[in-house]
Amino acid sequence: MTAAAKIKTWVVLGGSSSIGRAFAATAAAAGSNVVLAGRDLEDLERTAADIQIRFGVTAENARFDALDTESHDALCEMLAERDGPVGIFLLFGFMPEQAEIDGDHQLGRQTIDVNYTGAVSILSRLAPLLDERTGSRVIVLSSVSGDRGRLKNYVYGSAKAGLNAYLQGLRARLYRSGSFVTTVKAGFIDTDMTFGAPGLFLVATPTACAEACWALGLKGREVAYFPWFWRYIMLIIKTIPERIFKKMSI
Ligand SMILES: NC(=O)c1ccc[n+]([C@@H]2O[C@H](COP(=O)([O-])OP(=O)(O)OC[C@H]3O[C@@H](n4cnc5c(N)ncnc54)[C@H](OP(=O)(O)O)[C@@H]3O)[C@@H](O)[C@H]2O)c1
Repeated sequence: MTAAAKIKTWVVLGGSSSIGRAFAATAAAAGSNVVLAGRDLEDLERTAADIQIRFGVTAENARFDALDTESHDALCEMLAERDGPVGIFLLFGFMPEQAEIDGDHQLGRQTIDVNYTGAVSILSRLAPLLDERTGSRVIVLSSVSGDRGRLKNYVYGSAKAGLNAYLQGLRARLYRSGSFVTTVKAGFIDTDMTFGAPGLFLVATPTACAEACWALGLKGREVAYFPWFWRYIMLIIKTIPERIFKKMSI
């Protein structure tokens, strides 16, 4: 049996994003049931109905707010009722501009709470279930921004860096029980998050991103860049000495 076939249910945390919708369709096309989790239940319901009609699988929605950590256990309880290994695709995120954060400390706090604290909260609560369900897969869409703190988005970047370090530990934990954690560090993707943002280059589509996350996760890759060439861009960026990097406006 293939890795995809073993996982009967995929949960998409961030189901209202274009990448989340494309991932849910990819999982459904492979025969898995999907749970679209997020804040906008009407939007999730529309996507679930569309997937159910197109692919003949069960598609449901579930309320999930990264900031409401007290509510995260409910999603774990829902998943515990499913049989076999489970799939988690975590891609929710929040990226205000650094200049906005500089003028509003609460916004900085929210950036960390969504991208880091919210992700750690749900994954830590899911970890005991993932330990039990050998063959489970966790795929997290992170960002190249976590590789180096930049003038233009260092609060967001630091939250993603923290998330990447957390995932390294979670990967080691779940390895011991036979489950997998894949970190996908993305470059620029054409979504609501980047709409109208200046200075973007080599922008990828949401569908290509979703399909890459799916393929990388099922291969059991530990860490990967999407698109692949960001590995080399970041290699160069990471080698710039700090005394020069601090003067660069990137
Ligand atoms: N676009 C890029 O160039 C790029 C590059 C690197 C990494 N990434 C990462 O890729 C992921 C997906 O981003 P995207 O580009 O697809 O952006 P997007 O279209 O803005 O999607 C963001 C998703 O996060 C959800 N979200 C935001 N705050 C939330 C909260 N408090 N609780 C639960 N869900 C919340 C949104 O739900 P609502 O509909 O409820 O707001 C939406 O589903 C993010 O983690 C982002 O950091 C994006």
